[in-house]
Amino acid sequence: MSRNVIDVTDLTVEEIGELIAVAEDILAHPAKYQDLCKHKQLATLFFEPSTRTRLSFESAMLSLGGSVLGFSEANSSSAAKGETVGDTVRTVSCYADIIAMRHPKEGAPYAAAQFSEVPIINAGDGGHNHPTQTLTDLLTIHREKGRLSNFTIGFCGDLKFGRTVHSLVNALSRYENIRYILISPEELKLPRYVKEESLKKRGISYTQTTDLDSVIPELDVLYMTRVQRERFFNEEDYLRLKDSYVLTPEKLVHAKPDLSILHPLPRVNEIAVAVDRDPRAAYWKQVKNGKFIRMALILKLLNIPA
Ligand code: NCD
Repeated sequence: MSRNVIDVTDLTVEEIGELIAVAEDILAHPAKYQDLCKHKQLATLFFEPSTRTRLSFESAMLSLGGSVLGFSEANSSSAAKGETVGDTVRTVSCYADIIAMRHPKEGAPYAAAQFSEVPIINAGDGGHNHPTQTLTDLLTIHREKGRLSNFTIGFCGDLKFGRTVHSLVNALSRYENIRYILISPEELKLPRYVKEESLKKRGISYTQTTDLDSVIPELDVLYMTRVQRERFFNEEDYLRLKDSYVLTPEKLVHAKPDLSILHPLPRVNEIAVAVDRDPRAAYWKQVKNGKFIRMALILKLLNIPA
């Protein structure tokens, strides 16, 4: 049975530590890794739009000396003819050694994994989870802060539909002494199941607020997110909520000098472009980190020693 990563907790904390160490080593010595996946193939099955996740997976495999195949929209696959994800994945696992899959339906990568002969990586399932973005976020926090414990993190924006938030809250709940401040409009609060399963079950407390300004001075990490238009049931609600938070240089005046600002991207309007010049902005470094942690993950799931 091959090893899948559907949920971030499919990896132990120790394994995540190893992946971070390998990613750091790849960043420092990329040439050492350039042939490790020779003759291996990665399939990217994207039933939903993507820029960073799909291209970083592809770039990761190419930088390991492997090759890539796949599709980037459901309409160009037999899904358009009514094929099930199970049959699609069963087919693709005849051609590829490892599969990264994104799908608008929650649980689709889990269902697909039941039909696959090769490892399946969840590259985002609906409003549920996004474990490889979380690995990217953990690598970024580790590089920026030098630790994965003892800090205060604010999650800001669409905490209801933001799958990157759900996965990162879940992942961080296994580390020591993290304070969570959940900043969102009333309608876009973190779902109850995430609070129950990731926080309350582990006895972790959190603060909820609608006001970013009042908590920004307390934060070591600020995780901004976009309002997830495609998951709304009506456009009016989206239009009303989309600009709930806009991070500007003025808002950052009272933030800590060593704050790290993360965002999984794409950004719509929630971080002013002027913030990009602030040394606390870490989101473009985060984009780059995404490739290297995915290289480490591909090696691990293919059982190729780094
Ligand atoms: C995120 C996603 O797809 O969930 N993007 C990404 O993978 N970096 C965040 C988002 O779309 O808002």
